[in-house]
Amino acid sequence: MKILVTGGLGYIGSHVVVELLNRNYDVLVIDNLSNSSLKVLDGIENICGKKPDFEKIDVRDKGELNDFFKRNQNVQGVIHFAASKAVGESVENPLLYYENNINALVYLLQELQDKEEAHLIFSSSCTVYGQADELPITESAPVKPAESPYGNTKQIGEEIIQDVCKVKPALKAIALRYFNPVGAHHTGHIGELPLGTPQNLVPYITQTAIGLREQLSVFGDDYPTRDGTAIRDYIHVMDLAAAHVVALERLMNKKSSSNFETFNIGTGTGSTVLEVVNAFESATGVDLNYKIVPRREGDVTAAYAHTERANKVLGWKAQYSLEDSLASAWQWEKNVRSKD
Ligand code: NAD
Ligand code: WQD
Repeated sequence: MKILVTGGLGYIGSHVVVELLNRNYDVLVIDNLSNSSLKVLDGIENICGKKPDFEKIDVRDKGELNDFFKRNQNVQGVIHFAASKAVGESVENPLLYYENNINALVYLLQELQDKEEAHLIFSSSCTVYGQADELPITESAPVKPAESPYGNTKQIGEEIIQDVCKVKPALKAIALRYFNPVGAHHTGHIGELPLGTPQNLVPYITQTAIGLREQLSVFGDDYPTRDGTAIRDYIHVMDLAAAHVVALERLMNKKSSSNFETFNIGTGTGSTVLEVVNAFESATGVDLNYKIVPRREGDVTAAYAHTERANKVLGWKAQYSLEDSLASAWQWEKNVRSKD
């Protein structure tokens, strides 16, 4: 079965491609390489012994996208990762985010909406919940006004898909709302490669541990939490990858209960920033240099997933511990820097 993965050379996409290839799917990747490199294909081949078919295509290029679908009429499922994802950059340059994340989605849906059958998995985010009133967060928690243009593109993206699904019953879609994806494939052949200074906690930790950054800043220790630092639900990227495959199979096996479904993808357990620091130290044996600094603007106090819907309906559950995730992120960091 042919599966198209847009943005399939990126961090999450590459892990999903590995999972699909290992399950013998025929995988087509399109990516414009704006935040990834062709070297990722070698990493995938090192793990799977084969590569996906790759074409350098920008999903915003309507003509090229249309030509791709004409040449590949037998694509049975699409997993759409291609998007820009830096929250801070989206505040600085909102139109870049609306243009890339929304236009690409609209053009993709234009290709899918008139097919006899189409199955779409969309990368959404726990950011749609903002600071939820109740924890753990269920899928029926209200979507709060977005804190950033990036977050807004995920909310609008879900709405666009839902609107199209209402009038095009042959299109079936699932939005996966990821909590905080971390870690890497255990071989260290693929992982997260942030451009410039990392904005996210785990790559900042591994870059500090390897000596690229002097010190981790822990943003705020005055939150109303058990140790004063903010709480998140860190999910191993390989668990996340497995969730994509089961979600896609649910669509392709005609098991979905409505044309558009949403699932939280997290572990169900929240960890504070200091707990992550401690878990990193105990998983790797490395001492981390860190200091407490004031809160970062826009951060919520706590977010972790209610995972019952994903557990029961998808039959998916996170398998890896936080220590596993951090050990794999560290393995990846060491591998990358040994090649520098
Ligand atoms: P990433 O930047 O590593 O991967 C995205 C890939 O898409 C990159 O390879 C990039 O080159 C490509 N791309 C971007 N715009 C494109 C376009 N117009 N045409 C073709 N390719 C394009 O990001 P990621 O962390 O792997 O995230 C994947 C998806 O998951 C994104 O939609 C992101 O918003 C979403 N998401 C990520 C997180 C996270 O914390 N990483 C959390 C929730 C949701
Ligand atoms: C985690 C915790 C920080 C860096 C972001 C996006 C969200 C989603 C996932 C895409 C927070 C603290 C961080 C540092 C720190 N992405 N921290 N020092 O903010 O939960 O979510 O990525 O959809 O939309 O907003 O993740 O990794 O940036 O932060 O203390 O150097 O670590 O304050 O409490 P976040 P993060």
